[in-house]
Amino acid sequence: MGSLENHMNNRGGRSVGSHDGAVSSIVSARGITYSYDHLQVLTSADITIAPGERMALLGANGSGKSTLLRILAGSLEPSGGSIQLDGQPYAYTRDGRNAVRRNIQMVTQDPDEQIFAASVFSDVSFGPVNMGLEDDEVVERVHHALELAEISNLAERVPHQLSYGQRKRVALAGALAMRPRVLLLDEPSAGLDPQATRQLLKTLEQFHQDGTAVVVATHDIDFAWNFCERAAVLADGRLSVDAKEKILSDAELLSGARLALPWAPLVSRALGMPVSYPEDLLGE
Ligand SMILES: Nc1ncnc2c1ncn2[C@@H]1O[C@H](COP(=O)(O)OP(=O)(O)OP(=O)(O)O)[C@@H](O)[C@H]1O
Ligand SMILES: [Mg+2]
Repeated sequence: MGSLENHMNNRGGRSVGSHDGAVSSIVSARGITYSYDHLQVLTSADITIAPGERMALLGANGSGKSTLLRILAGSLEPSGGSIQLDGQPYAYTRDGRNAVRRNIQMVTQDPDEQIFAASVFSDVSFGPVNMGLEDDEVVERVHHALELAEISNLAERVPHQLSYGQRKRVALAGALAMRPRVLLLDEPSAGLDPQATRQLLKTLEQFHQDGTAVVVATHDIDFAWNFCERAAVLADGRLSVDAKEKILSDAELLSGARLALPWAPLVSRALGMPVSYPEDLLGE
């Protein structure tokens, strides 16, 4: 897998440090409320996304994870509260949505919501072409994104003939080709085989090292434990966000979200040694 240097260098990102040395947020949402007709899904949710951070978003089916991600991606306008990108409120105009899209990319739960073109290559090139980039730049970005998503061999294939897991990767590559500062992934490991899930973790680790913030909505608490530094749990419309050690050890909060405690920290504590995967217990 190639270096992500270009991935980062061409993004025209802003400085991420503030004068006092604290890291400023890319996205800052305060008091977010959302209702579909009369169904209130989010009640006064606060969330920030800092450069390079890895956050897991957990919650039961129907708790509002996808809704929150769509709000962060700018595709749904909240019913109440404020949401800002680099300190500027999101604007729900064509230009405003494009500005958000250049910085924040969401990969939806269902890849078929995002895949339209007749070949994988043209599908992944859709965003960069729409940004008005030169052909050479588009080709370079698409190749790099396909490489990162490990689907270079599928470039000429017809997307709807691919497997579900392969289509998930095509949708991911489409987002990566935009070189976002924030990547929002809605259940990226659902439907992936175990090896592909671990590979996804490695890929996400590279983004972290290069400063891309990644928020992952998932039901896989062990994936969340291995992936994130901060975790957010949605239950009854309320969002709790904190360090993963705090959130993912809160049995009451997790059970309210119909989740069990993650396996790795329990075993690590019991054995007095760090364990991330079952094979770590097999020794050298
Ligand atoms: N377009 C819509 N119109 C009306 N209600 C909706 C719409 N989309 C979602 N909902 C409702 O909003 C609630 C939150 O849905 P959402 O998809 O955000 O949950 P989720 O946490 O992502 O669930 P899952 O784990 O199943 O993906 C659910 O009760 C759902 O039925
Ligand atoms: Mg969802």
